Amino acid sequence: MPDTRPRRTFAVISHPDAGKSTLTEALALHARVITEAGAVHGKGDRRATVSDWMAMEKARGISITSAALQFVYRDHVINLVDTPGHSDFSEDTYRVLSAVDSAVMLVDAGKGLEPQTLKLFKVCALRGIPVMTVINKWDRPGLSALELMDLIQEKIRLRPTPLTWPVGEAGDFRGVLDRRTGEFVKYTRTAGGATRAPERRMAPDQVEEADALPWSTAVEEHELLELDEADHDQARFLSGETTPVMFASALQNFGVAQLLDLLLDIAPDPSATTGVDGTVRDTTDDFSAFVFKVQSGMNNAHRDRLAYARVVSGTFERGMVVTHAGTGKPFATKFAQSVFGRDTAAVESAEPGDIIGFVNAQALRVGDTVYVGDPIEYPPVPSFAPEHFVTASAGDIGRYKQFRRGIEQLDQEGVVQVLRSDLRGDQNPVLAAVGPMQFEVVEDRMTNEFNSPIRFSRLDYQVARRTDADGAAALAGKRGVEVLERSDGTRLALFVDQWRAQVTARDNPDIMLEALPAGGA
Ligand code: G4P
Repeated sequence: MPDTRPRRTFAVISHPDAGKSTLTEALALHARVITEAGAVHGKGDRRATVSDWMAMEKARGISITSAALQFVYRDHVINLVDTPGHSDFSEDTYRVLSAVDSAVMLVDAGKGLEPQTLKLFKVCALRGIPVMTVINKWDRPGLSALELMDLIQEKIRLRPTPLTWPVGEAGDFRGVLDRRTGEFVKYTRTAGGATRAPERRMAPDQVEEADALPWSTAVEEHELLELDEADHDQARFLSGETTPVMFASALQNFGVAQLLDLLLDIAPDPSATTGVDGTVRDTTDDFSAFVFKVQSGMNNAHRDRLAYARVVSGTFERGMVVTHAGTGKPFATKFAQSVFGRDTAAVESAEPGDIIGFVNAQALRVGDTVYVGDPIEYPPVPSFAPEHFVTASAGDIGRYKQFRRGIEQLDQEGVVQVLRSDLRGDQNPVLAAVGPMQFEVVEDRMTNEFNSPIRFSRLDYQVARRTDADGAAALAGKRGVEVLERSDGTRLALFVDQWRAQVTARDNPDIMLEALPAGGA
């Protein structure tokens, strides 16, 4: 029997060290984990540097870049889709956000809004994903609650609507005032947060003498917030105007159950999705899903390739024959897997909001739709403006065949964008990335997986704009710009800097020079 309990599918966006792994573990502790298989990152993996991230990815298979943790809470199935935790950002992270219905922005109370959080937030805003905010590490000294509210308002232009308000300042955490019920949720420090933290709820008249002073401050501030209309409004939250805020200590397990309750109470359900031709697919219609990530080489012995898809509509059942919208060809899904951790398990059924992995579905690319019944094709997963460019060449010319095959595979997976032009020929493709770490992943995988060492040579371009055939012709031979074609057919004009891009656009008003969504700084 398919498990048709309601779904919540979300991701945590944060800067490294804000406490995402700690929160994930705490969530798993509070809920009943359906599939654990290494999906929760161990403590030792947390402080991953660039190099050990790749070693880790190999050692742990898919769990680093694509763990999705599925658990049951209050009769809901919750899918926590992991965003890669390394400090550099890459296109992967953004793609993951196309698979979720909401996001939790995790903020370190001591640090405020950090660069990576802001970048990820921008992607949420672009995609209309509602964002809930959790201020973490309230058990230790940090900024004041009001300062943090100002930062959110200023830096991301979302109106914070606190659902809880801290009693005691950061570092002197007594608990929170639940602004919806007026109760005091008292916090008790536990050793290492190893157990579920006892959260004691009490009415205002039960607040003990020792907490009286911070409690009255919290009540005053709560009243000020009320006057300021900083109260939760579901419609404004869903339309991306406001962000509900909670205060927590993931390490101490405080606020974690409150976050789960919040997800159930206000985060959106998987909803109807519109295809490129305007057709709307309701979640109860026939099965459909779109691929948001492709990964291979997780298991060197098997050369497997896994396409991760988010179910949009209908019930998926293993063995179902689905149609690939891109080619119109049917394929059997006998090897569908759940993709939680290294020890993948066969998935028997999946519902809208769930993430499934298709094994060795060679035809599937990022952005592709698969369906049953009436045809549907979902809009492509957006690609972001690359800001780093290199030319690539085979380090060992005797292995050119492997080089080509590797580049093609990594291109299909979306590890980097591969650009070509007649002028440059096929031997030295240009690789374009949103974050420079994407090149390191290419280097590592080319060497170890495709047995073809690769050499990069940096190109001086920094800005890419979308153009067309006429634009390419008009820009040919101009200084400081070069037009190349991406493998999806998009023509990109690369400029040495923003200034050159602007001047060219100003001097050639008839040429198409469209900005792409900015991912990087
Ligand atoms: P990340 O996945 O976002 O990168 O962060 P992670 O959970 O690894 O947490 C980063 C550090 O912050 C860890 O400390 C973790 O223990 C600490 N931390 C997370 N949540 C809280 C919290 O609510 N309160 C406090 N005080 N600390 C918190 P570390 O010293 O880097 O590692 P560890 O030795 O404690 O594992």
